[in-house]
Amino acid sequence: MSDTNALYRDLERLVPYVERMQGSEAAADPYRLQFHLMPPVGWMNDPNGLCRCGEWRHIFYQYSPFNAEGGVKVWGHYRSRDLLHWEKLPVMLYPDQPWDVHGAYSGSALVEDGILYLYYTGSVKYTGEYDYINDGRANNTALAVSHDGITVCSNELLMENADYPKGLTRHVRDPKVWMQDGRYYMALGARTVDDQGVVLVFESEDKNHWKYINTIMTPEPFGYMWECPDLFELDGQWFLLCSPQGVGKQGNRFQNIYTSGYFPLYGDFRGCYTLGEYEELDCGFDFYAPQTFLDEGRRLVLGWMGMPDAEYGNPTVQNGWQHCTASLCELKLDGGKLLRVPVPELDALHRRKIDPEQAKVFDLSCMSAGAGKIVIRECAVLEWENGKISLSLSGNGGAGRTVRCSETDAIKDLRILADTSSLEIFVNGGSRVLSTRYYPKHETCGITLAGIEEISLWEMGAFEISDMQHCCFAKKS
Ligand code: FRU
Repeated sequence: MSDTNALYRDLERLVPYVERMQGSEAAADPYRLQFHLMPPVGWMNDPNGLCRCGEWRHIFYQYSPFNAEGGVKVWGHYRSRDLLHWEKLPVMLYPDQPWDVHGAYSGSALVEDGILYLYYTGSVKYTGEYDYINDGRANNTALAVSHDGITVCSNELLMENADYPKGLTRHVRDPKVWMQDGRYYMALGARTVDDQGVVLVFESEDKNHWKYINTIMTPEPFGYMWECPDLFELDGQWFLLCSPQGVGKQGNRFQNIYTSGYFPLYGDFRGCYTLGEYEELDCGFDFYAPQTFLDEGRRLVLGWMGMPDAEYGNPTVQNGWQHCTASLCELKLDGGKLLRVPVPELDALHRRKIDPEQAKVFDLSCMSAGAGKIVIRECAVLEWENGKISLSLSGNGGAGRTVRCSETDAIKDLRILADTSSLEIFVNGGSRVLSTRYYPKHETCGITLAGIEEISLWEMGAFEISDMQHCCFAKKS
């Protein structure tokens, strides 16, 4: 930015410094993933600002470089032309303004004429005897603009808590902005004073001035807070994607502390609407805060392969880093429901066909008739019968994770994307997905298979990630 302040200038030096000092320890961890994005050091959570701008796909993410267990949030940045070769770019947003000084929280990107408009939540927390729900924090909506897709040239406060409608707590965040019918729309996740999760809809003619126009909610409360909302249309059907907090377990549904999923939305999000039944987007241990974007007509979705406030953990913290993104998927409509299908670009990482006893980092596709069982690297067991599937993790392999079950239609086909320390299990073409981190012993390899046929098993290669930090510094000086 032209008028940078001292906080910005110090953070801009400190982040690359800590990445240089601690990055090699993180990089040497055998649990580093091969084809998922991770923080160079420290902590990652939500994907942010996902967009296609010219030939580039940008992935920003919530990044705490100084603390592998979560700390002050900046926007980390990767970009790619082909979703296989990635450039790690300098941090895009630092918490350096009065409205975001305790964190540049989640948000989205609007692309117009090659310019990135990054809408995000500025977090401020006051010190004192506050409940931090109705008092003690500010959730501000801000707009940072980038002309080169690498650095921010302006940043301004658009709305603060007093600008949101009445009846809300201080929890109002994660703007998702898009253009439609010649206007701009923004969805913001919120918690009401009655502890109900809702989504606020705002409208603007100029990207800067926003008018509240509607609230989207269920007739009965469904959780106390809806984080990371996203509203989009797919093949004529509207959906509200969000990450509700405070939804209690119901049989095999909502087994994690927080859920993420979607409601079909009938009618108009700007006026009269009804929400259909909520569907979870993932039934594994680690998937949260997904966001979508349009990529040449494809509606792509990227989630965080982690779970906030979970009772299980990740041993990678000992090596100074934690968490990763899930695999990028395309959303497809199937009988009113959404399928999550890994982008075909990932197939280019197929190295060679392997035998089951060689499997470590792999892509397995198979068909199933009735019941079956797959044991992966001695610590993950996937079992199914008719429409019921369970994923059990054992011992240190689960790092506290035990079992997750899901009920669906009869299980016909499965695809497993297994990275060094993650499993993503796509059932029936992606109508059910179970994502989890797992920690097999490094030397263990091999899978055993029962009840499946038409097996295709590939060893997977790795993303290529180049560090553009130094080039950018060179350019500036
Ligand atoms: C979801 C979330 C968002 C918030 C961000 C902070 O995981 O809590 O609501 O903006 O993480 O990192």
